[in-house]
Amino acid sequence: MDEFHYEAGVLRCEDVPLSEIAGEAGTPAYVYSCGALERAYRELDEAFAGLDHLVCYAVKANGNLAVLRALASFGAGADIVSVGELYRTMRAGFDPKKVVFAGVGKTEMELLAGLGERILLFNVESASELEHLDRLASRHGKRARVALRVNPDVDAETHGHVATGRALDKFGIPVGEALALAERVKEYRSVDLIGVHQHIGSQITKLAPFTESVEKSAGLVTELKRRGFDVRYFNIGGGLGIRYKDEETPSPKELVDAVRLTLESTGTKILCEMGRYIAARAGALLTRVIYRKKSGEKDFIVADAGMNDLLRPSLYDAHHEVRAVGEGGSVANADLVGPVCESGDYLARDRELPDAREGDLLAVMCAGAYGFAMASNYNSRTRPAEVLVRGDSWAVVREREGLADLVKGELVPAFL
Ligand code: LLP
Repeated sequence: MDEFHYEAGVLRCEDVPLSEIAGEAGTPAYVYSCGALERAYRELDEAFAGLDHLVCYAVKANGNLAVLRALASFGAGADIVSVGELYRTMRAGFDPKKVVFAGVGKTEMELLAGLGERILLFNVESASELEHLDRLASRHGKRARVALRVNPDVDAETHGHVATGRALDKFGIPVGEALALAERVKEYRSVDLIGVHQHIGSQITKLAPFTESVEKSAGLVTELKRRGFDVRYFNIGGGLGIRYKDEETPSPKELVDAVRLTLESTGTKILCEMGRYIAARAGALLTRVIYRKKSGEKDFIVADAGMNDLLRPSLYDAHHEVRAVGEGGSVANADLVGPVCESGDYLARDRELPDAREGDLLAVMCAGAYGFAMASNYNSRTRPAEVLVRGDSWAVVREREGLADLVKGELVPAFL
């Protein structure tokens, strides 16, 4: 079942024709399917059946309040990396007892905010952070629940920008140093070391990096317990890939089953923090063709969405399927480009694409994760609207920015 499907010649999200959304909400617009969010979340949750577990959603993938509210209502926890994400998560109604806070550079203000909400766990990434957290917690009469984020030195075999578990990456504490650091925790007054965390990268399409890293990190859990630490949580991170083009990716069940015995042997509650797997396929970027032009052998389809709206193709050379919202043929050797003044501004390049005419609508698929979240105002372009669909209902869940939003907070000083 695909929530984005054709019926009567029109691409729909659940029961709503995308043409209806474009007509009323305008383009470009991100359209999210509530049903697809729920299906992906439940698939993950069910994969862990039989294990004490909590599926957290990595808010960075798509932090829209309505998306977050939907996931909170399904029972998800949240993985956050900034006070901004904490704010969104609390506004959306997540239970702070289901919130884990990662990131190499949490500021004092961010640590304090997490302490204030009594979140489930801080995923601590360095000795300095740990020391800092203890001092802050002591000063404010709080206790900090901590998981050590270990760096298992495993190559996730993904794009270099999003691999995080190799020794050369800035993330986590080398497994070999984690024990010494844990021993230091015994001297701290306000830190409870109750978890181990790892996250080795994103858009991972192979099982081996998961199994290898989980085994290494689980070894640390066992050793910490042997030394008397009350380790109750093992967070195996996020990163499960999806099929954008023709990738063969393991299913959540295949992933969990591959490490089930190892997870069981730790005797801990298992956490994961998936972003892309939950949100990517639930979203499409809806765009309207402004012009067509031909340059030599090349066909350019110029649309009203560009790299500022969806950065992934330009930044990672990522592939996103492009579908026509209406009917029509296809055109070979075409580029789908936006209006931004850079040659790197494309949504699809050198591809067979729908032969869309001026005014036609296109949907750039699998854009629900790291789509709007990475959108910018580059070229002083207003960021797109966001829409959430549930069955035959839909609503704008973020208004399209207006021109005044572009200069919000900017000040012209009196000396000019
Ligand atoms: N946990 C931590 C600590 C992370 O750093 C991330 C992603 C996740 C969980 C969620 O990973 P996921 O399940 O979504 O793969 N902008 C890139 C992706 C960056 C991912 C960064 N960290 C992209 O568009 O592909």
